[in-house]
Amino acid sequence: MLDGKKTLFSGMQATGNLTLGNYLGALKNWVTISDEYQTFFSVVDMHSITVRQDPAELRKRARMLLTLYIAAGLDPEKNCIYYQSHVSGHAELSWILSCFTYMGELSRMTQFKDKAAKHADNINAGLFTYPVLMAADILLYQADVVPVGIDQMQHLELTRDIAFRFNNIYGDVFTVPEAYIGKAGAKIMSLQEPKKKMSKSDENPNGSIYLMDDPDTVIRKFKRAVTDSEASVRYRDEQPGIKNLIDIYCACTGKTPQETEREFDGKGYGDFKMAVGEAVVSVLKPLQDRYKDLSGNKDYLDGIIKANAEKAQYLSNKTLRKVQKKIGFPEKIR
Ligand code: TRP
Repeated sequence: MLDGKKTLFSGMQATGNLTLGNYLGALKNWVTISDEYQTFFSVVDMHSITVRQDPAELRKRARMLLTLYIAAGLDPEKNCIYYQSHVSGHAELSWILSCFTYMGELSRMTQFKDKAAKHADNINAGLFTYPVLMAADILLYQADVVPVGIDQMQHLELTRDIAFRFNNIYGDVFTVPEAYIGKAGAKIMSLQEPKKKMSKSDENPNGSIYLMDDPDTVIRKFKRAVTDSEASVRYRDEQPGIKNLIDIYCACTGKTPQETEREFDGKGYGDFKMAVGEAVVSVLKPLQDRYKDLSGNKDYLDGIIKANAEKAQYLSNKTLRKVQKKIGFPEKIR
């Protein structure tokens, strides 16, 4: 607990182009709840190298993501926004925690199984211990809450198990974190296959709206979005395409599905798709403008990156020192 506020940690990988799904499902909620917590929002570039990356591309995307955090409305003076690789404690704690994590636990992780199947030519040890690094991220800052999507719940459960296990042996060293399940952090589906999550790794670019898509592209993608033959704007599971469009519309306008059904009662899909596209453009446009301003301001961004990395390094060191002492590493001579 710092400044009387609970601590919140979350992170995103700098791989792929961020989508509207990442924004409405995660980033936007981070902004909404950030005031209530002492926050750490990391660009987890160390996790990214568990699959092969092009170095220049990784560097570029990491900076884009960090800039987007700020453009989305996270004030970098109040929120610790930083690159994971700039803070040495992540790797150091990760090693220690890996000695408190069982092979059996890691082999049960569904993300590992999925990624190992997808990258069969590169099933490296880092891919396997990925969840330990994630546990280190969270426990380093004694986070109380961690906003995560359903797909990361298993990793968070493991983090809790590791923290409990460690605390049982050494006393109360770690705060045991809770998942923060947002008030319906909208789950956005693909515009082309509405039963699949909108994903930055989708091969079909028409399925996803990217945060940097220009207005014409956004409108065009919505015009092409897959619907059904019912021709009525109804919020029902039987109409997954329309349901997804309603979710997107609601997340962008603050309206409820019922209000949306009423608004488009008797209207065709053409009108509705146009309205959804426009609602999305009006959310993305200001974000893109801020992004452009920020990325043109190199000195300002560099200053933020430096100051926040120092802050994160300082705060994480407190936990790391405590852990090193507990497990019996000799004290450094200063
Ligand atoms: N594994 C998370 C994901 O892919 C990213 C992540 C890394 C993370 N460390 C974290 C999320 C710590 C929350 C807390 O989505």
